[in-house]
Amino acid sequence: MRAPKKTPATRGRAAKPSALVPAARLNERVTLEAHAQGGLAACFDGFTVELGRFSAKAIERALALDAGLPIASFASARSAVDKEIALLVKRLAYSGLLEYRLARSRGGKDLIVIEPQMADYWPQVAALKATDTIALSRFAYLRRRGNDMVLESPRSKALFKICDPKVAATIAMLSTPHKVGKLRQEHGALAFALLGLLFDCNMLFKVDAESAGLRLAEGDGALVVWDFHDLLFHIQATEGRQATPAGGRYPYIGLIPPPPAVRAPWGGEAIDLQPFTAGPEEAPSPFALLLRERHSTREFDDAHPITIAELARFLDRAARVQWKWTSPLDFGDGSVGPDIDYTRRPYPSAGSAYELELYLLVAHCDGLARGLYHYDADRHALVAIEARAQDIETQMTSAQFAMDASAPPQILVTIAARFDRISWKYSGIAYSLILKDVGVLLQTLYLTATDLGLGGCAIGLSNLDLFARMTGQDFYREGPVGLFALGRGAKVGD
Ligand SMILES: Cc1cc2nc3c(=O)[nH]c(=O)nc-3n(C[C@H](O)[C@H](O)[C@H](O)COP(=O)(O)O)c2cc1C
Repeated sequence: MRAPKKTPATRGRAAKPSALVPAARLNERVTLEAHAQGGLAACFDGFTVELGRFSAKAIERALALDAGLPIASFASARSAVDKEIALLVKRLAYSGLLEYRLARSRGGKDLIVIEPQMADYWPQVAALKATDTIALSRFAYLRRRGNDMVLESPRSKALFKICDPKVAATIAMLSTPHKVGKLRQEHGALAFALLGLLFDCNMLFKVDAESAGLRLAEGDGALVVWDFHDLLFHIQATEGRQATPAGGRYPYIGLIPPPPAVRAPWGGEAIDLQPFTAGPEEAPSPFALLLRERHSTREFDDAHPITIAELARFLDRAARVQWKWTSPLDFGDGSVGPDIDYTRRPYPSAGSAYELELYLLVAHCDGLARGLYHYDADRHALVAIEARAQDIETQMTSAQFAMDASAPPQILVTIAARFDRISWKYSGIAYSLILKDVGVLLQTLYLTATDLGLGGCAIGLSNLDLFARMTGQDFYREGPVGLFALGRGAKVGD
């Protein structure tokens, strides 16, 4: 945990320090409860998070977190009580229970409040030079949320609640590049501190004289290929980079009745298809039987785990590269572009892009050590990737939780997308094509597992941050878009 660095530009200039140093305070819905023998717990939405034991003095100080404590005080904590408070604040921050107030109006109203979206966010004021030219990220957007105006970005670890329209106007001005020195002169020290915080969150970026356009100036080649709505959808449809609770939460219960399983019929004449359908005497084809047999399996037989031979057959039939070819890009008007490589695989893929990769977290497989592997679909080989045991455990536990199962799956297949492979061709629809490709691949994995006498289950919610940590890649380069639990199904009644 680090406090914001003092920069030459912030040092010794006007402005009241209390207004410029972010203060940590408890999130609105959180209360602290002290228990016997110094135990402290955070309570919210009916949940309790134990925070550990603290001295009576520290507990007394902790109550000030309702109003806010300047974060600079934690970095320089010297006394035993200060150190205890610093530890408490760190624990609260990592549980997502803190927010940071940057400034208050003279009347005591909040002007800017920072809400972390990731557990490891800690406010840092980036050191910007007066000569730097900055612009607003093309991924940043201001929107109304309830009665608030919030500034968000799928690239940011935090969102900023902007309670003062003047601050919103300053941010809007940054749609064109501006010199930092001039901004500071015209908008004062508060705006300057805000710029540093926004820059740290990738809401702003530096533009230099050689920049060949704003889109190319921001980030690297892997970021350039993302459209705004695609990256936003990706972050909001997964866990790990946003704090809004996702998943089966039934948010409209009591407001709207549950929609029916089957659509209400249209009023027109119905043509009964039953007489045209094969009669009971006609034997169903093996494929029709396979489709009927397919079902989701959430409990696995850990006494007889899947073997490496079964896994090899599964991957060979469902996902292996069958052949490859190269052809020049044909624009259809006689002109050609660069040569493009293609592959043929067992399932269809939009534009023959085959942007989906399989990563296998192996917990129980006869003949294969526990760990993370990439399936090299071209060489038909598993390549080990070093991942932290704790991250593997977290991913497995969350899969178990998502399936409401009594144990983790034997193998968890993560379907990850190489975003550039598909976005290089398709504008506007790239992410939607990826999700359609995932659906097609999931059914292929289901049917192949069924055919081999194995069991599997799709899982809807993946965690971007966890995958990025395990593979060491930027979340926008290659990221999880689907999960499939695989193994030998437990016999019903086991
Ligand atoms: C995209 C997708 C996401 C799913 N996510 C989950 C999940 O998170 N947890 C779970 O237990 N089942 C999940 N399932 C499995 C469905 O619950 C299951 O397919 C459905 O209940 C029909 O049952 P069946 O597959 O046995 O025919 C998912 C299925 C799909 C296709």
